Amino acid sequence: MTIDERVLPNLAHWNERVAIHMAARSYRVAEFRAGANTLFPIEREELGDVSGKSLLHLQCHFGLDTMSWARLGASVTGLDFSDTAIAAARKLSTELKIPAAFVCSDIYRAPEVLKRQFDIVFTSYGVLCWLPDLKRWAQIAADFVERGGVFYIAEFHPLTQSYDNDNPRELKSRISYFETAMQEFGPGPDYADHSVTSSHGSREWMYTTGGVITALIDAGLRLDFVHEHPVCCFQMFPFMEQYADGWWRIKGDPIPLTLSIRARKP
Ligand SMILES: C[S@@+](CC[C@H](N)C(=O)[O-])C[C@H]1O[C@@H](n2cnc3c(N)ncnc32)[C@H](O)[C@@H]1O
Repeated sequence: MTIDERVLPNLAHWNERVAIHMAARSYRVAEFRAGANTLFPIEREELGDVSGKSLLHLQCHFGLDTMSWARLGASVTGLDFSDTAIAAARKLSTELKIPAAFVCSDIYRAPEVLKRQFDIVFTSYGVLCWLPDLKRWAQIAADFVERGGVFYIAEFHPLTQSYDNDNPRELKSRISYFETAMQEFGPGPDYADHSVTSSHGSREWMYTTGGVITALIDAGLRLDFVHEHPVCCFQMFPFMEQYADGWWRIKGDPIPLTLSIRARKP
């Protein structure tokens, strides 16, 4: 597999993270083994009934969400460039007898290894920042959708990327929302288990909400909706509060925290 040299540090970073996340409480592997569904209400409600549908999950990590869609009746394929993640996903699928296909590929090489289309192409939470080319990503995702099929993304709102995650008291600007240059981050505490520091850094990119929407339209998709939510599925900033429904919010809801988009292939 030949991949863009700029993302090679990210491959090491994600391979290392698999064991950390398999052990992290927030990933709920033990509950998943016991039958839980790891999807959040936003994507479950907005994507609706998936039973009997073929579903491709792009950037599936070690497949818990992929197999959660299988538990809801979809015929699923997960794709990720981390060989460690794909090996873990296949092992879980065999152990739990959840039918699922897992493909190891850089997303930009996916059309070379996966030569079919799907009723649903799904991707979620923490996917866009790893992509050096948004337009090509959108075209690849759209090309995997069958005519009449659906593309769906639930993602951390692009605006959140421009704030400092570590400021203890309030939203503090870190970088322009419109930054386009690649950003290099050193090793740091893992987001799912702050007690573990990864040894690999990462390279990341920022995209605006308008940029994401336009890339999907340019790829030939027709939008059903673009939703901005005041809730987040994890504590992205230290001063967030968790509510009884499990969602994390910033008091007063000053900015959108999650973005979801559903689109169709005409
Ligand atoms: C934050 S995780 C996505 C988490 C996901 N929401 C879940 O269910 O766990 C991002 C994923 O993107 C994958 N990834 C990053 N760059 C990629 C690339 N160029 N091609 C394919 N997968 C990539 C990583 O290996 C990682 O599994």
